[in-house]
Amino acid sequence: MKTLVTGGAGFIGSTLADRLLALGHDVTCLDNFDAYYEPAAKRHNLATASRSPRFRLVEGDIGQAALLDRLLAKRPEVVVHLAARAGVRPSIADPALYERVNVQGTITLLEACRRHAVPYVVFASSSSVYGVSRDIPFREDSSRLMPASPYGVTKLAGEFFCRAYHHLYGIPITCLRFFTVYGPRQRPDMAIHRFVRLIEDGQPVPVYGDGTARRDFTYVDDVVDGVVRAIERPRDFQIYNLGTHETVALQDLVAAIERAVGKRAAIARQPDQPGDVPVTYADITRAARDLGYAPSTRLGEGIANFVDWFRRTRPARI
Ligand SMILES: NC(=O)c1ccc[n+]([C@@H]2O[C@H](COP(=O)([O-])OP(=O)(O)OC[C@H]3O[C@@H](n4cnc5c(N)ncnc54)[C@H](O)[C@@H]3O)[C@@H](O)[C@H]2O)c1
Repeated sequence: MKTLVTGGAGFIGSTLADRLLALGHDVTCLDNFDAYYEPAAKRHNLATASRSPRFRLVEGDIGQAALLDRLLAKRPEVVVHLAARAGVRPSIADPALYERVNVQGTITLLEACRRHAVPYVVFASSSSVYGVSRDIPFREDSSRLMPASPYGVTKLAGEFFCRAYHHLYGIPITCLRFFTVYGPRQRPDMAIHRFVRLIEDGQPVPVYGDGTARRDFTYVDDVVDGVVRAIERPRDFQIYNLGTHETVALQDLVAAIERAVGKRAAIARQPDQPGDVPVTYADITRAARDLGYAPSTRLGEGIANFVDWFRRTRPARI
């Protein structure tokens, strides 16, 4: 299968690219290596994929319509749209940038998909669309979506544009709401990566709020398994949560990381951060039923894999 992955040099995108290549897909990765974190880390992510004759890297921006026209003229059978500005807190500092990349960028891509009659699109959405909703666990059909950050709003807008493009032009589109993904290659701004780095370096670990905020952490291989299952099962239009249906309190997360690293953390208590939500918790009934999605990685195992990757690759990533 010919697949175009936008944001394919990133954490989830590069892991997906490796999996798709192993499954025999031809993978084109479009990525602009933005400066959100070190581009060297993203190049390192593609080390394995780059060795495959079925892999092609195109350095460019999803906002460039002419470039998209050239890529889509090659007739990919599916476009997996992961390129975005990720991260909740930085979206508060620069909402217009998030709107430009995540909303306008998605529209530019959907327009190109319409022009080229792309057979199927998979869109990376986020648990952030639920925000401070009290409908817990979060279900895809909840009518009380309450994003608490510009980032969450851009992801919800992206979903709505996907829905409209399906309605107007009949493009089959699946939106996948990822829940705090972790594992090897995780972005350096995300909690597990940051905490491991700080504990390894003997620096204080900032814990925001009282440590009772809970997150549904999902191991990257499980998420990629869900994405592949979605790729293999085109639908008219559907939204799926890809989480684990388990939540972990921040203070228990720190303890699990301490065990994996083998060192105690020096905790630096901080006030709650704007944009943070008290809980994320996925109902995954729909993904289990339609996709056969069944996440299986235990948190302790996933964190141990991350620590192993972190230590092995640190010199090459910076
Ligand atoms: N990691 C998570 O926990 C999580 C949770 C929910 C949703 N998501 C979504 O999943 C997707 C992937 O996230 P990630 O954690 O792998 O992030 P990432 O930052 O590692 O990957 C995103 C990639 O997109 C690229 N990119 C950014 N803007 C681009 C543009 N204009 N044109 C082309 N490429 C561009 C970046 O260079 C990067 O390589 C994103 O859409 C993110 O919003 C991630």
